Amino acid sequence: MELPFAESYKMKVVESIHRSTREERAQWIKDAHYNLFNLHSDQVYIDLLTDSGTGAMSDKQWSAMMLGDESYAGASSYYKLKDAIRDITGFEYFLPTHQGRAAENVLFSALIKEGDVVPGNSHFDTTKGHIEYRKATAIDCTIDEAFHTELDHPFKGNVDLNKLEAVLKKHPRERIPMIIVTITCNSSGGQPVSLANMIAVKQLAGKYGIPVFYDSARFAENAYFIKTREEAYKDKTIREIVREMFSHADGMTMSSKKDAIVNMGGFIGFRHKDDFEKSTTFNILFEGYITYGGMSGRDMNALAQGLYDGTEFEYLQTRILQVAYLGKQLRDKGIPIQYPYGGHAIFVDAKRFLPNLPKEHFVAQTLGVELYLEGGVRGVEIGAIMADRDPITRENRYPDLELLRLAIPRRVYTNNHMDYVATALINVFERRNEIIKGVRIVKEAPILRHFTVELERVQNVSKERLIL
Ligand code: F0G
Repeated sequence: MELPFAESYKMKVVESIHRSTREERAQWIKDAHYNLFNLHSDQVYIDLLTDSGTGAMSDKQWSAMMLGDESYAGASSYYKLKDAIRDITGFEYFLPTHQGRAAENVLFSALIKEGDVVPGNSHFDTTKGHIEYRKATAIDCTIDEAFHTELDHPFKGNVDLNKLEAVLKKHPRERIPMIIVTITCNSSGGQPVSLANMIAVKQLAGKYGIPVFYDSARFAENAYFIKTREEAYKDKTIREIVREMFSHADGMTMSSKKDAIVNMGGFIGFRHKDDFEKSTTFNILFEGYITYGGMSGRDMNALAQGLYDGTEFEYLQTRILQVAYLGKQLRDKGIPIQYPYGGHAIFVDAKRFLPNLPKEHFVAQTLGVELYLEGGVRGVEIGAIMADRDPITRENRYPDLELLRLAIPRRVYTNNHMDYVATALINVFERRNEIIKGVRIVKEAPILRHFTVELERVQNVSKERLIL
């Protein structure tokens, strides 16, 4: 018999988690105003809110922490991290930051000005937020296939070269400070970008003299997909692929809380000294001195080791197969999800899951609440609540896709936990026709409302439809 696949690590430290009753959960979610962010973590059995900063560090990372050098300037931990970044990514210059959005803040302060346009593949919220905060515009040039959840395509994160060239032709070169390619593309469902596409983007950008930066939070998962889906790279190691990927970029921002498997941290990698020098002042202003930038020495040590842990093929295989293991169970039961399965999460297509619910009832949020009630599993809404109101009309914006993201922390849960999650969601699916009432907003912030929004259950459907 062929030996089956099994995880590439064993456990040394564990943390207890507890189940709760449906009655307890009904009270807790009501007290949380039907906002999953407001739940206390001990009210959650399996937490799939995010894969960011929620991973389990390895014994090598924990032991590296003990050797952290906490000197303000010139710490050995900084040089260790610099060496690891150069080795893994090939970038000569780097600045540490406390997390990914801080890297965006520093880099964009140096390079993006009011009136600029920044094309890319479905920029992540904080990336878009930092662009718009500077009164510049993020333009989405993702391939159309990404927006059809059931359509099979190996690289749904790819940039559409025609859309990109149209932007490059329309705007003068000095108005386009950079192109940002997000690998993998979180907003389109953890979908990868092919190396062929990275090469083509760089060539096109070169024709117009525009730099390319990668938003690299999940770069290693992207490399795994290249190895397993792009014929030309099947015999290359993950680290060879990673080096080749970054060789087509002028720099990178990194949220180390994802693929570098640390609980906090980030950095910016630069190919060109002048970009590095321009960003340095902002790093000192916002993050800290250039040899620590918001990180302690021990955290930089853990991150340096995490870059190696996160680019091991066996680890990545364990990770990606676990996401697919959950995805397959759902798909086999006919639950509509973004396909192929993402690298870090399963994205449930809530509109197709709950077709009876009008969009005004916040379909993905309602599904998230139902999943929590069913089994104490917490996901996150990527839909109309997250989309905020139109800044001019103040009307709710209803995006084409209403998704419930189930993001899987790295090296944390077992496949038994995935079985539990799948069963909970399948149970909700089986009673989907009874779910005819969603939630309505009681209180909200003017922007980024999903973090603090307060909701209540819609009481009377027909009356509610009148007052919405
Ligand atoms: N870029 C991408 C693609 C991300 O997914 C994130 C964070 C960031 C940048 C910002 O990094 O959180 O370290 O400041 N994504 C998290 C998530 C929050 O849940 O997907 P950060």
